[in-house]
Amino acid sequence: MRVVHTLAELRSHLNAYSRPALVPTMGNLHEGHLALVRQAKPLGDVTVASIFVNRLQFAPHEDFDRYPRTLEADCTQLQAAGCDVVFAPSEAELYPEPQGYKVSPPADLADLLEGHFRPGFFTGVCTVVLKLFHMVQPSAAVFGKKDYQQLMVIKRMVRQLALPIEIHGGETLRAADGLALSSRNGYLSPSERTQAVQLNQALQNMAHSINTLQLTPGDLPALEANATQQLTQLGWQVDYLTVRRQQDLAPPLTLVSTPLVLLGAARLGKTRLIDNIET
Ligand code: PAF
Repeated sequence: MRVVHTLAELRSHLNAYSRPALVPTMGNLHEGHLALVRQAKPLGDVTVASIFVNRLQFAPHEDFDRYPRTLEADCTQLQAAGCDVVFAPSEAELYPEPQGYKVSPPADLADLLEGHFRPGFFTGVCTVVLKLFHMVQPSAAVFGKKDYQQLMVIKRMVRQLALPIEIHGGETLRAADGLALSSRNGYLSPSERTQAVQLNQALQNMAHSINTLQLTPGDLPALEANATQQLTQLGWQVDYLTVRRQQDLAPPLTLVSTPLVLLGAARLGKTRLIDNIET
C-alpha cells in the first residue's frame, strides 16, 4: 500500500491505472470505513482511500480542532482491508489558496435536516468531494449510508454535473447493541456510550409504530414530537427525528408503498450523533 501526501505523487502513482475506486474519509477509521474499502475493491483496478479533515464542512463552533487525527493507525487498518493507495493531503496541498469557488448544492435537498442544523455543511462536503474527484479521477466512489443525506447530495451532484463516476452506498455497520459505528462515538464517555443506542431505538420505535398502527401522514408530526419528547427526557438534545421519503427526503404524502427513511440527529453531552433506518 502506498501512502501519498501530494497531488503530484498521487497522479504519478495513479497513472498506471484506468479505473480507480475511491473511498473518501476524514480518517479515525472504524470497521464501517473498512467495509466501504472492501466494497470499493471490485469496483476498480486500484482502491484509493482519502484521509482529509475538511475544514470547509465544519462551522466555527464545531469539532474541527478536536476531530481525531490518527493517520498511522488508519493506514495499518487500510492496509489490512486491502486498500492500495492512501491519499492524505495537508490542508495546504488540498487548499493551496483560499477556496473561492465552491459547490452550492440545491436548497430543496441540502438546506433541510443536516443542512438546516449545519448551515454550509453540504457546500463544504460537495466542494471537497468534487475536488477529490478531480484529483483521483475515480470511476467509482463509495460513501456510507449512515450519512444518508450526504450520499443523496453527492449522487445528485454527480448526476447534475455529469461526472463519469458511479456512486455506491455502503450499509451502516452497528455495534452489538445497535449503535451505528461513527468516528464521533469516540467522544462518548462510558455512561454516554451505554446510553447512545437510544437514538437508534427511537427510530426503531417510530418504524414499529408506522408498521403496526396503520398511521397516515397526518399522524407523523405527533409521532415525531413524541419520539423527540422521550429522547429529550432521557437527556438528549434532539435536532430532528423525522420520517421522510427515500426518494427526495420530503415528508411523505402517503405511507402506503412509499419507501421511507427515518432519520435522527441528537446531541448527548457534547457529542452530536446521527442515524437513520430505511423501511
Ligand atoms: O463523510 C465524510 O467523512 C466526509 O463528509 C467526506 C465525504 C469524506 C467529505 O469530507
